Amino acid sequence: MTLQSAPETAPALWYRDPSRWPVERAAIFAKSWQFVTHESALAETGSWRAETLAGYPIIVVRDEKGGLRAFHNVCRHRAGPLVSERSGVCDGALTCRYHGWRYALDGRLRQARDFGPAAGFDPRDFALFPVRVECWRGLLFVCIEAEAPALADLMAPVERRLGDRDWSNLRVGLERMHVLDCNWKTYVENYLEGYHVPIMHPSLDRDIRSEAYRVWVEGRVALHEAPPREQGVYDGVWAWVWPNIGVNVYQSGVMIERMSPIGPAQTRLDYFYLTPGGAEPTPETLAMSDDVTAEDKWIVERVQENLNAGVYQTGRLSPKHEGAVAAFQAWVAEAIGNRA
Ligand code: FES
Ligand SMILES: [Fe+2]
Repeated sequence: MTLQSAPETAPALWYRDPSRWPVERAAIFAKSWQFVTHESALAETGSWRAETLAGYPIIVVRDEKGGLRAFHNVCRHRAGPLVSERSGVCDGALTCRYHGWRYALDGRLRQARDFGPAAGFDPRDFALFPVRVECWRGLLFVCIEAEAPALADLMAPVERRLGDRDWSNLRVGLERMHVLDCNWKTYVENYLEGYHVPIMHPSLDRDIRSEAYRVWVEGRVALHEAPPREQGVYDGVWAWVWPNIGVNVYQSGVMIERMSPIGPAQTRLDYFYLTPGGAEPTPETLAMSDDVTAEDKWIVERVQENLNAGVYQTGRLSPKHEGAVAAFQAWVAEAIGNRA
C-alpha cells in the first residue's frame, strides 16, 4: 500500500490578517452563490427579504409576474438603503429610506421624488444594481457576479446524493442565529471534517457511528456520510457547498446552515430549519443542534485565539480525514491568486 502524504495546512496568517478580508469578499463571496431563504418566504407580490452577505447588502423581491428579482440594497441617488428590516411586503415599489426615490419591482427608477428639473439627468440611467437569483429545491440563492456557473451545476453532487428525497413540502419552521468570534474559514474547516466528532461531540457520537464517518469531494461540494444509529436525529447525510453553505439532513427535515463572515474576525451562522409544512422542529432536533453548535463554537474560538497568538504557523492535514479541508484551502488559494 502506498501512503498518501499529509499536506501542509494554510498558514495561520490566513485566519488573522484583516487585509485579506476585502480580497476574499471580492474574489470569493461576490463570485459564489449565497443562500438567502426558502422561496416560500416570498409568496406574494412585493414581498421581500434583505440580508447582508459578506458585507454586501442584498434585497430579493417577488415581482408582479411572480418572478424573483434581486438587487443590491443600495439606492442610486446617494447610497441609501431601500429597506432596513429583514423582511416585509412593499406597496408595488421599493422606496428609498433616505430621500424617497421609488423603484419598480424590476429595478427601474420610477420616481426621483421632488428632484427638480436637472439637465443631463435621465432616470433610465439609475436603475437598481441587479444581482442574479436562482432556486434549487425551493432554496433561493443570489450571486453578485454575472459569470458564475448556474446554481444547478454547483448543486449537482448534492442533488445526486439526495436522490429521491422529496423536499417539495418543506418550509421554514424556524430560523436561528449564532455569532462566533472566529474567522469564517476557521469555522468552515471545522465543518469539513468528522475527525473531531468523537472528541468534541459526545451526543452526536452516540447518534451516529462516527468510526464510519466519511467525507469526500465532488465538484465544489464536500459530501459527508455517517451511518445513523437507530432512532437518531440525523439522517447520516451532510453536504457542504462552496464557499459557506451546510446542508444538514435530519430524519424530520433539513437544516440549511449559512456561515457568513461579518468581517475578518467574526462569523455569523444562520440556521434555517426546513420541516414538512413549516412545523416547529422537534425538541430532539433542536437539542442536538444546540449541543453540537455550542461545542463547535467553543473549539473554533479557542483555535482562533491560538491562531492569533502567533506561535503556530502551519500544521499537517490527515489524508484519511481532512481531504475536504485540503480541497477548501486549495480553492481559497486559487480564488485569491495564491496570495501567501
Ligand atoms: S439615497 Fe436614496 S433617495 Fe437619496
Ligand atoms: Fe463539529
